[in-house]
Amino acid sequence: MIIAVDGPTASGKGTIAKQLADHFGLPHLDTGLLYRAVGRQVALNGGDPDSEADALAACDFPDELLQDEILRSEAVGGLASRVSVHPSVREALFERQRAFAEQPGGAVLDGRDIGTVIAPDADVKLFITASVQERARRRWLEMTGREIEIPLSEIEADIVRRDARDINRKDAPLKAAEDAMIIDTTAFDKDQAFEAVLEAVEQKLR
Ligand code: DC
Repeated sequence: MIIAVDGPTASGKGTIAKQLADHFGLPHLDTGLLYRAVGRQVALNGGDPDSEADALAACDFPDELLQDEILRSEAVGGLASRVSVHPSVREALFERQRAFAEQPGGAVLDGRDIGTVIAPDADVKLFITASVQERARRRWLEMTGREIEIPLSEIEADIVRRDARDINRKDAPLKAAEDAMIIDTTAFDKDQAFEAVLEAVEQKLR
């Protein structure tokens, strides 16, 4: 069984994908991490994330980079969003994601284009979303928890910028697949969000 979980930044899709993987005993791939590794590698190479050639060269990152905590930073998230607009970068990362989706027994993948491009054949497609204000609030709480001081307004502006880039890019833009179940978690806490997701998934599998 393949489960595709897509959605905008800070929507909670990563947590939900992990919970689904645990629940169904499936392996999980956070595909955003691959784009983050490319973004980080461009910086390490002294390259320009907006140059397609520099971004493509950075697709050749060492696997150990995927373990680096710095990939989770806001700065690297911004670089990831910039390198992800280049079609050749998306193509270079395609096989790795497709192979993960096709492994025997299935998998859970989360990202922006799983239900539309990587696994259009997924058994279950979810599109997790929440309002910009709520996503900014969650990200702010997470960052203050890690003792990173940043104004809420700055996070909100960054989320708006990132959404616009992910939605408006020509190649594999962020959008719900036609057959995706859209779940808005704005009014839910983590447990309630997972409850709503599980109910939708179980209904789909019935
Ligand atoms: O989910 P995330 O915040 O870790 O993703 C970082 C960036 O990577 C995001 O802004 C767009 C890009 N991305 C993508 O284009 N396609 C994916 N499947 C996953 C992430």
